[in-house]
Amino acid sequence: MEERLQKILAQAGIASRRQAELLIRAGRIRVNDQVVVEMGCKADPFRDRITCDGQPVVSEEKIYVLLNKPAGYVTTLADPQGRPMVSDLLDGISERLFPVGRLDLDTEGALLMTNDGALANRILHPRFEVSKTYEALVAGFPSKEKLILLEQGIVIDGVRTQPARVRVLQRRPGESLVEITIHEGKKRQVRKMFQAVDHRVLHLKRTAYGQLRLGTLPLGGFKILSPDDLKKIFRAKTPLQSKT
Ligand code: URA
Repeated sequence: MEERLQKILAQAGIASRRQAELLIRAGRIRVNDQVVVEMGCKADPFRDRITCDGQPVVSEEKIYVLLNKPAGYVTTLADPQGRPMVSDLLDGISERLFPVGRLDLDTEGALLMTNDGALANRILHPRFEVSKTYEALVAGFPSKEKLILLEQGIVIDGVRTQPARVRVLQRRPGESLVEITIHEGKKRQVRKMFQAVDHRVLHLKRTAYGQLRLGTLPLGGFKILSPDDLKKIFRAKTPLQSKT
């Protein structure tokens, strides 16, 4: 079936649709060895030979995986230091999947991996505001005032964070387990937010993208997602009351 070139390039994970337009305009895309510069051009991703800078643009079956990332694994597709990579955990999956967003080396939990570049761009685009929920074990007992600050927005790296949902799940001797839901993905955001209110994060786990939850998936395990699972990513949660 023929589709617009921008869509094919986005689905193959080459670029967002906007970036794909720029690649086309720059004459970097060929269909059956002909440079294509017109915007409306369509092609069949499974029959036509499409290349970007001479490299084939491969349209694979789309696959979506939810991995429970253990600490100690890097969220990149190559690591010069030779550390374990999240892709090492995808036993039996032959497609090359890339992570949607990242988790720090020392963070555990839900990591979506796919070869669907368009869906990945949609999840990461701030306009869709896909929420991400974390359980943070923090040192001490954050006061009600500090939890409100985290919810309303706090300045990290010179920029105020967007409103978040925060609730204390458990108080333990000397530490608290706090659930926090954010709509952004700044580097080490959750750790920095708690640091900004003087509570060090001792352990961090992402438990959900939107309403798609890790559930009972074992650490290091993964599951292939169904279309219904994918819909849950874009479903918002009802507002939470912060409990302190
Ligand atoms: N926030 C962090 O601080 N670390 C992560 O890995 C994800 C969100």
